[in-house]
Amino acid sequence: MIIAPSLLAANIGKLAAETIRAEKAGAQWLHLDIMDGHFVPNISFGPEVVRVLRPLTRMFLDVHLMCSRPEILLESFAKAGADQMTVHVELGDRVTPLLWKIKALDKRVGLAINPPTSMSHLEPYLGQIDLLLIMTVNPGFGGQPFITETLPKIQQASEWRREKKIDCRIEADGGIDFHTAAECAHAGADTFVSGTGLFKRRNFRAALRKMQKIVDAQARSRS
Ligand code: DX5
Ligand code: ZN
Repeated sequence: MIIAPSLLAANIGKLAAETIRAEKAGAQWLHLDIMDGHFVPNISFGPEVVRVLRPLTRMFLDVHLMCSRPEILLESFAKAGADQMTVHVELGDRVTPLLWKIKALDKRVGLAINPPTSMSHLEPYLGQIDLLLIMTVNPGFGGQPFITETLPKIQQASEWRREKKIDCRIEADGGIDFHTAAECAHAGADTFVSGTGLFKRRNFRAALRKMQKIVDAQARSRS
């Protein structure tokens, strides 16, 4: 079970220190939300931020591209030091070439789905991805309440993974706190993005440990 703190909830004026804080707290992954002001109504960071943070940490850099034209950004993020790049299934016909391009750049491949999008759109890509990101809020902003109706999507992904013998992680993203992390883990998620639930806490380390214990316990009860 992996917890990926989301840098979107960090103090934006101190991204380097915040990255180090996450790693010192024990995080193995760092989630970076890239927003283009078009796919979502917000703008966050670009490849330059990844490039500056890369030498500061050994954490796995999990780059989530909420962008209408990720094709023009993949190479820059790869060069900047991303370990994984996730694009959205809502991009339709462009998904296949995008997945291939990420693979050609020798990075881990992720595919994300928004709450209103039907899971059937994901099926053609299941054998081609390392991670399936299920949005548990509508993308664009941190600090939103978890949408409970997304839990069956996690269950569906988990069933597909078992039935089709697919080897990919299932990541829940948005509104993850201790309670919703447990619900997502129970539904079959193994990777949890949490911004507000970790960065906005005074004791990051204690919060991360507690969340890890909660999801690990769910994993044990599922197996
Ligand atoms: C939302 C982003 C999330 C966000 C989660 O558009 O994809 O990764 O940072 O933040 P919290 O945990 O605050 O909901
Ligand atoms: Zn995200």
